[in-house]
Amino acid sequence: MYIAYREKKCVDLCLNSIKENLELVSDIPAGTGKLSDVHTKHGYEVIAGDISADMLKEGIMKHQWDRCKNVVMYIQTDITDLDFKENIFDCFICLRLMHRVPDSIKKQALLEIKRVTKGYLIVSTGIFRKSISTMVNGKRSDRVRLNLDKWERILNEIGHIEKHIYVSKIFSNEIITLLNLSK
Ligand SMILES: C[S@@+](CC[C@H](N)C(=O)[O-])C[C@H]1O[C@@H](n2cnc3c(N)ncnc32)[C@H](O)[C@@H]1O
Repeated sequence: MYIAYREKKCVDLCLNSIKENLELVSDIPAGTGKLSDVHTKHGYEVIAGDISADMLKEGIMKHQWDRCKNVVMYIQTDITDLDFKENIFDCFICLRLMHRVPDSIKKQALLEIKRVTKGYLIVSTGIFRKSISTMVNGKRSDRVRLNLDKWERILNEIGHIEKHIYVSKIFSNEIITLLNLSK
């Protein structure tokens, strides 16, 4: 739960540092709806999506439970093939997906995110480094972790890195990046 708390805090910090007005934000994959209170706090309109209908249902229940009223649409969708027009989002949030998919899918997803987003991307991935979590759990087979240089090279192909924030320097390998897609 601490990690989820920290992830929300990092997304909040990224959103706070965006100067432009955010009207429409995408949360894909929304999963279990973890970001509901962040969305409520910032007040923009949200389109929440996930490839899994079951996860989408869980997300809807969590948003209802948290009285998150700003989700204007739920959509079952594949992030590599989004059914949206160009440049409709001011910001796209993509948490905890990139480290689970191979590089070819990452790149396809990032190009698709760039197509539909005119402003910013807030994205997380797992990075190779020695945290307590790596020492305790070892290398997890469901994760495709990158080193930071490689991740930066991939991100630099679609935008300008504004900042990286480590979710927890001790307990997690996850890094959250704010990327300006208009530069
Ligand atoms: C670990 S969960 C993360 C969910 C949420 N972002 C969070 O941080 O709690 C990964 C999610 O990615 C979704 N997913 C996997 N492949 C996807 C794809 N190609 N397009 C959209 N969602 C996908 C899964 O259904 C799952 O809900």
